[in-house]
Amino acid sequence: MTERVFNFNSGPAILPLAVLEEAQCDLMALPRVGMSILELSHRSKTFDQIIRSAESSLRELLEIPNNYHVLFLQGGASFQFSMVPINLLAKNNSADYIVTGSWSKKAVREAKRVGKVNIAATTEDSNFSRIPQQDELKLDDRAAYIHITINNTIFGTQWKTEPSIGNVPLIADASSDILSRPIPIEKYALIYAGTQKNMGVSGVVLVIIRNDLLERIPDGLHTMLDYRTHVENKSLYNTPNTFGIYINNQPSL
Ligand SMILES: Cc1ncc(COP(=O)(O)O)c(C=O)c1O
Repeated sequence: MTERVFNFNSGPAILPLAVLEEAQCDLMALPRVGMSILELSHRSKTFDQIIRSAESSLRELLEIPNNYHVLFLQGGASFQFSMVPINLLAKNNSADYIVTGSWSKKAVREAKRVGKVNIAATTEDSNFSRIPQQDELKLDDRAAYIHITINNTIFGTQWKTEPSIGNVPLIADASSDILSRPIPIEKYALIYAGTQKNMGVSGVVLVIIRNDLLERIPDGLHTMLDYRTHVENKSLYNTPNTFGIYINNQPSL
């Protein structure tokens, strides 16, 4: 075996050896399929079992309620910086963003291209060394949604509990702490996370979206940009990152 170093990269991050070994075998031929995981059709029965099993494992691990959809999309967490406002920031409304690090700033930049953004709080003046206190939040109770970055990968600050926000939908980038601890999914309307840090490899972004949000999506969006396309087609409208989804499903974990 090639000698392996200690890998502390935040992402793509280290994978358990058992997962790499299994993937290595399946790279030549999946048992009883006779074909590499890299060659397998996303329309095949075998891949359908893989993606459904990845979804059901996640549902179990994260205790995702039944009124949420689980999507495996592409474009990384960065693409969600755009997809969230394109789907959910209506023209006549604004969205609250709490800025706690460079990833939140990137999310704000994309939302501003779509509509009005209210910076409900920012800790940039202290170089993002803390999460704002509840009484610092200037929230709009008519906002389309509130966006937070749960864990600020670069600055190391983290929301330990959700802010108190009333009835406005809470949306979170959980890229660097998904599955690192229990997250009360029912407190969020939408959670997204690139899977290359805590779940698997790059090229897949997990989106957990509450059913009622789909009703807010305006008609006429480009097909691939519309969450409803991916819900209706169970993440298989186009060819997904089959290998990335397969790694997310590694039962050896
Ligand atoms: C909190 C957070 N959000 C978003 C991203 C961007 O993710 P991606 O590279 O999947 O677009 C990262 C990447 O490090 C991140 O740490």
